[in-house]
Amino acid sequence: MDNGSSPKHAHIFPADFAWGVATSAHQVEGDNFNNQWSAWEQQGRIKSGDHVGRACDWWRNAEQDFDRAKELGVNALRLSLEWSKIEPEEGRWDGSALGRYREMLQALRNRGIRPFVTLHHFTNPLWFEAKGGFATRQSIELFRRFTYQAVAALGDLCYDWTTFNEPNVYVSLGYFLGEFPPGHRGRVLQAAAVTRNLCLAHATAYRTIHSLQSQASVGWAQHYVVFKPRRRHSALDRWLCGFVDRRFNENFAESILSGTAPFPLNKFGQSLAEVKGTCDYIGINYYSRLRAGLDLRSPRTLFFQLTVPPHKPQGDSGIEIPYGEAYPKGLRRAAKRFAAFNKPIYILENGVPDRDDRIRPWLMKSAAKQMRKLLADGVDLRGYFHWSLTDNFEWNEGWHLRFGLIELDPATQARRPRPSAEVYAEIIRSSRNGGVSQAASG
Ligand code: GAL
Repeated sequence: MDNGSSPKHAHIFPADFAWGVATSAHQVEGDNFNNQWSAWEQQGRIKSGDHVGRACDWWRNAEQDFDRAKELGVNALRLSLEWSKIEPEEGRWDGSALGRYREMLQALRNRGIRPFVTLHHFTNPLWFEAKGGFATRQSIELFRRFTYQAVAALGDLCYDWTTFNEPNVYVSLGYFLGEFPPGHRGRVLQAAAVTRNLCLAHATAYRTIHSLQSQASVGWAQHYVVFKPRRRHSALDRWLCGFVDRRFNENFAESILSGTAPFPLNKFGQSLAEVKGTCDYIGINYYSRLRAGLDLRSPRTLFFQLTVPPHKPQGDSGIEIPYGEAYPKGLRRAAKRFAAFNKPIYILENGVPDRDDRIRPWLMKSAAKQMRKLLADGVDLRGYFHWSLTDNFEWNEGWHLRFGLIELDPATQARRPRPSAEVYAEIIRSSRNGGVSQAASG
C-alpha cells in the first residue's frame, strides 16, 4: 500500500488551497418531509430500513458541527440547499428557510470557513417530482427560478456554487439501475433526455448566477469511477468496460465541454451548443475502482456486473453490492482526465465507508500524496473536500455505511471523533507548514 509518506513536494499546496469537508442537505439536516427521498423512504425503499429522522440535526444546530470542523482546521465546507424547504409549494418561497441558510453561511464565515454551496444534491420537492422532475423541459425554467431566489438571498455570503451534484449518478441510478428515485430501470432514451435537461438547467443556472454575481465561481460535481475489465483477456469485458467508462464518466461532462448532446441523442443529430463552456471550475467526486464485466445472470444490472477482487483494499460493503475498491491513485487519473477543460479543479468529495476506521487514515494520506503529485505536474488543483465530517444518512443504505471523520449515533446525536479526524487535521497543518510531519506520514 502507498502510505503517502513522501515529503517530496510537501511545500506545494497553495496558501489559499481549500481544505474542506463535504455534506448535503438531506443527509445532514433532518426535518425533510417534502422531497422525493422522504417519499422513497416511506415506500420502504431504504435497504437498511433506517429513517433519516433528525439526520445530524443541522436544521436546528449545524453550528455545533461547524465548531468541530473549525477544530480540524478546515477553511472550507460544502453544503447543499434543500429546494423543498425553500420552495415548499410551486411558486411559494419560504423566507424563514432562506433565513436559516443565511444564518448557517454567516456562521461558517464567522469561523473563517469558506462556504461552497450546492444548489441540487439529488433531492427534488415533491411538487416538482410530481410534474416529472428533470424528465420534462419545464424543469429548466423551474430550476432557474429556484436558482435566482437562492442566489439573490444568499449571494452576499457565498461565491462558490455547484449547480448539480453528480448528474451522472442521479441519472444512472434513477433511470437505469432503479436504485434511486424515481426507480426506473433500463430507460436509455429517458435517461438521455434527463441528462440533456440537466445540462440545460445547469447552463441556465450558470448564467443566472453570473447575472447576479459577476465574481461567482460556478461548476458542477462530476462523479468519477475507475473502471477496469473484470477479465483482462475477455474482449467482451474490455469493450463493455470502455463503454461504461465513457458513458458514465463523460456523461454530462462532454456536453459541457464540447456542446454535444448526451449519447444517444447526439446520434439523432441533436446538439447542445448553448451549454458549451458553462463552468468556471471542474468539481470531481471520486471514491473507487470497480471491475466491470458481462454477466448474463444479472438482468437487474442490465447484464453487466460490477465487482471488487477480495484482496484489494476496500471499506465496508453496501447491503447488496460492494461499495468499491479504495484506490487513491484514481484521484490523479480523474484530475488528468478532466484537464482538457483547462479549468481549475476541486476534489469536491473523496472518502470511504469505514465504520472502524481501518483504512480511512491510509486513504487520506494517499489522497494527499496524489494531490502533491498533481500540483507538481502543474495541475491547477484548488481544493479537497473529505466526505464527510460526521456519519450521515447514506441514501438507500441509510445509516449502514459510515463515512464520518466523526462517528455519530443518530439516536442520541452523540459524536466521537475517529482517529482519522486527527489524521486529517495533521494533513492540513502540515500542508500549511510546508512539511510532512511524522503523524501525517503514518
Ligand atoms: C456521493 C454523493 C454523496 C455521498 C457519497 C458517499 O456519490 O454525492 O451524497 O452519498 O457519494 O457515497
